[in-house]
Amino acid sequence: LSPAQIVGVLARAHTLKKHGAAYLSPIGWPPREFINHRRPGPTLRNKSIALLFSKRSTRTRLAAETSATFLGGNAIFLGQDDIQLGVNESLRDSARVIGGMCSGIFARVDDHSEIEELAKYSPVPVLNALSSLWHPTQVLADLLTLHEKHRLFEKPLELARETPGIPPLSPLTVAYVGDSANVLHDMLVTYPRMGHKLRIASPDKYRAPSEVWDRVVQLGCDKDIVWTADPKEAVHNADVVVTDTWISMGQEAEKEERLQAFQGYQVTEALCKEGGAKENWKFLHCLPRKSHEVDDEVFYGPRSLVFDAADNRMWTIMALFDLLFARWSLSPERITA
Ligand code: CP
Ligand code: NVA
Repeated sequence: LSPAQIVGVLARAHTLKKHGAAYLSPIGWPPREFINHRRPGPTLRNKSIALLFSKRSTRTRLAAETSATFLGGNAIFLGQDDIQLGVNESLRDSARVIGGMCSGIFARVDDHSEIEELAKYSPVPVLNALSSLWHPTQVLADLLTLHEKHRLFEKPLELARETPGIPPLSPLTVAYVGDSANVLHDMLVTYPRMGHKLRIASPDKYRAPSEVWDRVVQLGCDKDIVWTADPKEAVHNADVVVTDTWISMGQEAEKEERLQAFQGYQVTEALCKEGGAKENWKFLHCLPRKSHEVDDEVFYGPRSLVFDAADNRMWTIMALFDLLFARWSLSPERITA
């Protein structure tokens, strides 16, 4: 998606949340001024969405199922052991068959090539729910959260970028400390295009693979990215500090090696103080979280936006379902808020 399309998705998510939160979970939302009774229309009525998941999920699956229900449609969870795919049937044939009955496919796969294969043969839109290389819906939820929390950051509002339909957000310095995995990869191709600087600390062996970096360069994002192996250097001047698991799904056999390699990468108050993060820095993590990546003081403390971002998984995925699956005759180029 282009930056304008990303803003369009965020704006749709913000609108759905404003008008829909009163009808869903009472936790945290909506603020008083957002309470109203204009429930978003059931744009997925009579439609089914296939959730083709070959890996575990809590947030992404919940977000997808609750979103489909809220939009009046039906999400069908197709786990690895439920269907013929991978045992008796190819991705190509599965994509065609699912597309004959469903309005969209939300797929969590192992190797990224599986998503490409699905997209190539599916007659309906395919949305990436996480692959070995990318996790685009996570970054949309993180961005929506940062926009909503813009008042927490120190930059004067005059610097805020034009963001129609969502609260304005001034350019931020975002630090990432940890493994170069799918969530970071989407940050690399998204944050610089949205006006934010990235500072990343990752051991040399665990830097982004060339296929990801080629895309970063192709999109012109590399100029706003600093890489180092030193976590303290990465968090310097950071408004936001982000991390992810050191052992992504599918890497369990590398656990011991990775635990060793990432020693010194735990996000703590001390690390960020010594490194010179902004006094008011905030914390994000896609979850699920292990305490070796970030200690309890940060994770459960006032800096942490992790559960706000987890809640926003639903609103951003709902926006994508609405824009891409409910109105799927629209091409992504024609997304508007
Ligand atoms: N953040 C995220 O994608 O969580 P799940 O793996 O639980 O879906
Ligand atoms: N990098 C993690 C993200 C989980 C949401 C993984 O792929 O397991």
